[in-house]
Amino acid sequence: STARITLDRDFTIAEVPHRIFGSFVEHMGRCVYTGIYEPGHPAADERGFRTDVLDLVKELGASVVRYPGGNFVSGYNWEDGVGPVDQRPRRLDGAWHTVETNAFGLHEFVEWAKAADVEVMEAVNLGTRGVDEARALVEYANHPGGTAWSDLRRKNGAADPFDIKLWCLGNELDGPWQIGHKTAHEYGRLAQETAKAMRLVDPSIELVAVGSSNRQMPTFGTWEHTVLTHAYDEVDYISMHAYYQEHDGDAASFLAEATDMDAFIEGVIATVDAVKAAGKHSKEINLSFDEWNVWYQSGLDTEDQPHNVSQTWREHPRLIEDTYNVTDAVVVGTFLHSLLRHGDRVKIANQAQLVNVIAPIRSEQGGPAWRQTIFWPFALMARMAKGRVLRVAVDASKESTKRYGDVDSVDAAATWDEANGRIALFLANRSMDSDGDVTVDLRGLSASAIRSAEVLAIPEGGDRLTANTEVAQDAVGMRKLESVGIEDGVLRVTLPPISWAAIELD
Ligand code: AHR
Repeated sequence: STARITLDRDFTIAEVPHRIFGSFVEHMGRCVYTGIYEPGHPAADERGFRTDVLDLVKELGASVVRYPGGNFVSGYNWEDGVGPVDQRPRRLDGAWHTVETNAFGLHEFVEWAKAADVEVMEAVNLGTRGVDEARALVEYANHPGGTAWSDLRRKNGAADPFDIKLWCLGNELDGPWQIGHKTAHEYGRLAQETAKAMRLVDPSIELVAVGSSNRQMPTFGTWEHTVLTHAYDEVDYISMHAYYQEHDGDAASFLAEATDMDAFIEGVIATVDAVKAAGKHSKEINLSFDEWNVWYQSGLDTEDQPHNVSQTWREHPRLIEDTYNVTDAVVVGTFLHSLLRHGDRVKIANQAQLVNVIAPIRSEQGGPAWRQTIFWPFALMARMAKGRVLRVAVDASKESTKRYGDVDSVDAAATWDEANGRIALFLANRSMDSDGDVTVDLRGLSASAIRSAEVLAIPEGGDRLTANTEVAQDAVGMRKLESVGIEDGVLRVTLPPISWAAIELD
C-alpha cells in the first residue's frame, strides 16, 4: 500500500482536547475489586490501592476517568458507598448479576484518582433515581461545608470538597436493557430538570446528557434530537458509545471500523447542530464519546461472558476480560486517530474500561499486572499528542472491505506543538499483506529531525492474533521503527503489514 499525506501549519483543527484520552472504571467484574483495589495484595498500599496497577495507569496517561458506571450506575445508591466501611450495605447489582460489597465508593475513588493523577467524571443514577439524589450528590461532593450533605462528607473524612467538575446525567437510558430505561421525551425532561437542580448547587459543573448507546440503536438520531430539544440550554455535551469487534474472521472490515466511528461522530454533530439551528441557540453542544473500544460481544462462550456469570450471585466475578491481539491494537490506534481528527467537537472520550474489563491493563488477584496490546497506542498518543490537531490530507491506495467498501490503506492523525516546534504523527497500515510506503509533506512546518519512531507490529514468530498474556506479558509492544527518514520537509516511512506507528519530529 502507498499513501501521500500532506500536513500544513496553517491547517489546524483545534487544541488537542486532553480529555479525549480518558478511561472508565465501572463497578463491574474485576475492574474495581482485584483491579485497582485489592487490600492484602503484595503491591497494595495502606488504602488497598494496587500500586502496580497505579503505575501502569500513570504510564497509560489517562486524563479523566468516568465512574462508577456504566449499566451499574442505573441501579446504584451513591450513599451506600460512603461512611464507615463496616456499616456499608451489601447489595445485589442487577446490571451485572453481582454482589456489591460497597467496600469501595466515592471517597475511595476520589482518593485513587488523586493518586493516579486523573480527573474524576462522575455519573449520577437516572435509572432508578432522579433530581433529588443527584443534587444531593453534588452538594455532598462539592459544597465546602455547613449543610447536612457537605458536613456528612466532612464527617466521613474529607474536609475539602472533591470539586468534581464533570458529570454524566445517567447512562445508556435509551437501551431497553438499562434499569430505568426511558423514552427520549422522558429522559430529555429528566435530564433537563436534573441538570438545572445540580447546577443550582454548583454552577461551575459541566454536564453530559445521554446520547445513543450505539449507532445501530433504532432511536439513533431521533433520541439525540428529542433529548436536546428539551435540554439544550442546560447541558454541555451529548454522549456516544460504540464497541467494535472482528466478525467471522473478516479482518479487513475490522481494520476499517474507524470509518464507522467517523460516520457516527459526524452523524451526531449533524443532529446536534440541527437542534442548535432550529432552537436559534448560539452555544455549541460538544461530544463526549464516553465509552468506546474493541469488545468481543458475540462469538465467545467463555466463563466470563455475562450470560454465564448471571447463573450465580458472586462478588467481582470475571466479566468480559477480553484478551487483545496485534490486530485489535491497530484498530484501537485508528479509533484514537478518529477521535483526535474530530477534536474540534469531540472534547471528551473514555476508553472502556481501565482494568480487566475490556481493558488495556490486566491484573490477577494476588498476582501480576500487565499491559495488553491496546495499551500501547493509547499510551503513546496520550503522551505525544500535544498542541494543535493538524488536518491530515491523505491520498492513499485502497483496501477493499465487505462492510465499508474501499477504504484508505493507511490511516493517520497528527498534532503540532508550536511552542517547541514538535510534530507527532500517528499512522496505521491496514494492509494485511503489504508494507505501507508513506510520504508526508510537511508544508510550512520546520521539523527536520526524527526525535522518536516506534511501531507496533506482528512480532517475530507471531501472527496478527498474537496477544500479551500472564505468561507472555511483553509478546507485543512498541519497537524502534527503522525505515524512516526526513529530507527537505518530506518524511518517508515504511510500515509493516497490520501495524501502528508513532513518530515524533523536531
Ligand atoms: O462497558 C461495559 C458496558 O457497556 C457498560 O456498563 C454499558 O454502559 C455499556 O453497555
